[in-house]
Amino acid sequence: MEQQLEALRGAALDEISAAADDASLEAARVKFLGQSGAVTLLSKGMRDVAAADKPRVGKLLNEVRTAVTVALDERRAALLAARDAAALGATDATLPATPRTLGTLHPMTQLMDRVVQIFRRMGFALADGPDIETEWHCFDALNTPPDHPARNEQDTFYLPDGRLLRTHTSTVQIRTMEASAPPIRIIAPGAAYRRDEIDATHLAQFTQMEGLYVDNSVTVGDLKGTIEFFFRELLGPDAQFRFRPHFFPFTEPSFEVDVKSTALGAADRWLEIAGCGMVDPAVFAAVNARRGDQAFDPEKYTGFAFGFGLDRLAMIMSGVPDIRLFTDNDQRFLAQFP
Ligand code: DAH
Repeated sequence: MEQQLEALRGAALDEISAAADDASLEAARVKFLGQSGAVTLLSKGMRDVAAADKPRVGKLLNEVRTAVTVALDERRAALLAARDAAALGATDATLPATPRTLGTLHPMTQLMDRVVQIFRRMGFALADGPDIETEWHCFDALNTPPDHPARNEQDTFYLPDGRLLRTHTSTVQIRTMEASAPPIRIIAPGAAYRRDEIDATHLAQFTQMEGLYVDNSVTVGDLKGTIEFFFRELLGPDAQFRFRPHFFPFTEPSFEVDVKSTALGAADRWLEIAGCGMVDPAVFAAVNARRGDQAFDPEKYTGFAFGFGLDRLAMIMSGVPDIRLFTDNDQRFLAQFP
C-alpha cells in the first residue's frame, strides 16, 4: 500500500507537470482525484490495512492527496500565467496609439464666433434672414434706386422668378424691423453673393457681418464708440481708427472705417475695414409703409448700422494669402487652425 502510494504520487506529479493545457490537466485531476480516480480507489484499501499501520499509512495517503491537489493548483496557475504572457507578448505596448483626429471649427467660424461674442457683451442679439431675397429687401427698402449699379445683372445673381441671392447682409436690417419694434440691437453674420470674378481675394460667396441699433436718441458718437470698442477687442488696444465720410444709400451720414493695427500686420497702413452710418429716414419710411404703422417713426427714433466683410479680416489676421483656401476644404490648411 505504501509503495503503491509513493508510485502513485510520482506518476501523478509527472503527469500534472506535463499537462500542456487545461483539458489535459482536467483529465489528470479526474484520473487521480476523481470519484474513481487512483487516489480515491487506494484510499478505499485503507480498510484492509492492519490497525497498527493505519496511522502511518493514513498520514501518507493524506500527504499524497495534498501533494496532488497542490500540484494541480500550481499547474493551473502556471498555464493561466503562460496564456496571459502570450497574449501580452502579441501586443507592443510601446507602439503609438492610433491617433483620434477630432475636427476643428473652420477658421471663418472661429472668427465669427469671436465677433459674435464681443457684440453679445454689448447687448447685441443675433438675427438672420434668408440668402434668397426679394429685390425689395435687398435694394428698394434700403433706399437703393432702380438704376444703382448693384442692381445690374452683371453684379447680382438673379433667379428666374426675379428674386436674387442677397448681395449684402443689410437685408437683415429690413427683415428685423419688419418683425419687431424699437429698441433694436442686432448683429447678423451670414453669406452674401456677388458675380465677382473669382481670384485670390474674391469669391462669388463671401461672409459679412451686419449690425443695426435703433432706439431713442442714438447718435454718431454711439456708432463710433461701438465700432471702435469692437475692433479694439478684436484686434488689440493699439488699433487706431479713421472715419471717412462716404456714401451708402441706406445711411446718412455714412462713413468708411479705416483701421491701423499690428494685428492686421501693418501698424502704419490704413486698412479699409467697414461701412457704417446713421440709418437713413427713408429706410424707416419704407419699413413703416410695409408694416402699415409708424413703429419706426423717424421723429422719435434714430439708429446706426454697420457692415463689414469677415473673409478679408480672417485672411489678414491669420496671414492667409488666398481666399480660395477657405473653401477648398483641404485638411492640411484647416488643420492649421486648431
Ligand atoms: N452693405 C454694405 C456693403 O455690402 C456695407 C454696409 C455699409 C452696411 C454701411 C451697413 C452700412 O449697414 O451702414 O458694402
